[in-house]
Amino acid sequence: MDPKTSKLAQRLAEAGQSHLLQFWTALSPEEQASLTLDLEAMDFKEINGFFKNAMEMSSNSKEKMDARMEPVPREVLGSVTRDRDNLKDWEVKGLHCIGQSKVAVLLLAGGQGTRLGVSYPKGMYDVGLPSHKTLFQIQAERILKLEQLAEQTHTTKCLIPWYIMTSGRTMGMTKEFFSRHNYFGLDKNNVIFFQQGMLPAMDFSGKIILEGKGKLSMAPDGNGGLYRALGNEGIVDDMEKRGIKFIHVYCVDNVLVKVADPAFIGFCVQKGADCGAKVVEKTNPTEAVGVVCKVDGRYQVVEYSEITLPTAEKRSADGRLMFNAGNVANHFFTLPFLKDIVQKHEPELQHHVARKKIPHVDSQGQLIKPDKPNGIKMEKFVFDIFQFAKTFVVYEVLREDEFSPLKNADSQDGKDTPTTAKHALMSLHHRWVLNAGGHFVDENGTHVPAIPRDGAAGSVTDDVNINLKDGTDLPIKCEISPLVSYGGEGLDEMVKGREFRPTLMIDQNGVHELVKNGV
Ligand code: UD1
Repeated sequence: MDPKTSKLAQRLAEAGQSHLLQFWTALSPEEQASLTLDLEAMDFKEINGFFKNAMEMSSNSKEKMDARMEPVPREVLGSVTRDRDNLKDWEVKGLHCIGQSKVAVLLLAGGQGTRLGVSYPKGMYDVGLPSHKTLFQIQAERILKLEQLAEQTHTTKCLIPWYIMTSGRTMGMTKEFFSRHNYFGLDKNNVIFFQQGMLPAMDFSGKIILEGKGKLSMAPDGNGGLYRALGNEGIVDDMEKRGIKFIHVYCVDNVLVKVADPAFIGFCVQKGADCGAKVVEKTNPTEAVGVVCKVDGRYQVVEYSEITLPTAEKRSADGRLMFNAGNVANHFFTLPFLKDIVQKHEPELQHHVARKKIPHVDSQGQLIKPDKPNGIKMEKFVFDIFQFAKTFVVYEVLREDEFSPLKNADSQDGKDTPTTAKHALMSLHHRWVLNAGGHFVDENGTHVPAIPRDGAAGSVTDDVNINLKDGTDLPIKCEISPLVSYGGEGLDEMVKGREFRPTLMIDQNGVHELVKNGV
């Protein structure tokens, strides 16, 4: 071994990680160089510390957590259904902030899409809409439209910078995709990519796992890796330079996401909140959503993997789930709050432990794919900073209007799949057309029936609420470009009093009935 490698070997020995060099002599010079580079970049003392703390935290049993959980109190809760009278004010306030270019959106897109089973970033996924737009394109167009709406009301040019967090696994492909698609019409100077950190997978005794003779098993450090990355990558400074005051953070996979939702932002600002979370009512105890609640008097999300079934099943007197504030991974932060987290509290955030089946090499260097968990991945969670908020608020929205995440590949009766996402978007757009006074007819020219929906809130400008008649198996094929309407507004002129035969497409070029039903 040359002196440089000996020094590295000594560091590894001190950290109890010498096994990482066990195949050293079998590696080619290139493999040796690449492994050296990876290992030299690592702070083993810190990683071992993360492991120790994470394991300690995870052994604090779930049952103990259950006893400490309380539901969100009514006074911090705003709701699009219960507080309908305030909606317009919140929306106006939010649009005003956007119009003053004080609002940025931040997309968490560093995940690996393991459940969906694609080898590329999830934002590049096409759920099969008539337009075949990807999640990234839909979000980009919503940003463009919102800028326009804010400009109309405030007559000055406004910008919504889009910060996109990627990881080592997703950065290259994401950037290339945006560049290939000309940033979907956005100014590329306002689309800012940055990269979160990675951590090694470890076995249960704290040894880093090798997935090849000269290759460590590495994974992104969770969406809460955001806070370290915000500091390391100079993002907070960039936000400050741009005069940003409020940030909407969201996950890549929700096809209905209202990027920089003015009503949500307006609600949080009006309440003087430094931190807010958007939720939908969780109605099924086993649904894979975290719940916003208080633990030991402090706000947090108890993740679906961390709540016990008896607690998830608890019901209040009104029959609803007691812990029903389902986290849709849409958060509001003020910049001073984020700055405080990045500068002060980030090191206090603990990693959560995910026990996983992690492919590894055996002592002969053969790749083994275990059939039961053999190690852990360590992840911080984006919502773990709620506990530091001085004024925390929760904003409840309707699932059918705002939440349809893409998590899994298509399968029969599958949940959160490309098909469910596609249907959710088309069904929302169908309702927009009905709300704006349009109608649908089937292939025989018969009206497709619609029934009024009780107690539901409208979108940006709706005041009539109509829903599909129960029992309709498939949604009407209908898609409205975000460049035409952000939340159902502005459609009257195009659809009022008209009859449409699906597939209906409304885009900047007008209203079209597609002859072929290729969806
Ligand atoms: C997440 C929420 C859960 C919520 C659900 C709603 C977290 C920790 N959990 O769960 O409470 O009910 O969404 O759909 O937020 N990501 C990164 N870097 C990573 C890992 C993930 O940027 O290292 C991003 C992903 O790209 C994605 C988002 O974080 O945009 C959520 O990740 P995912 O693993 O899908 O979270 P869920 O388990 O579904």
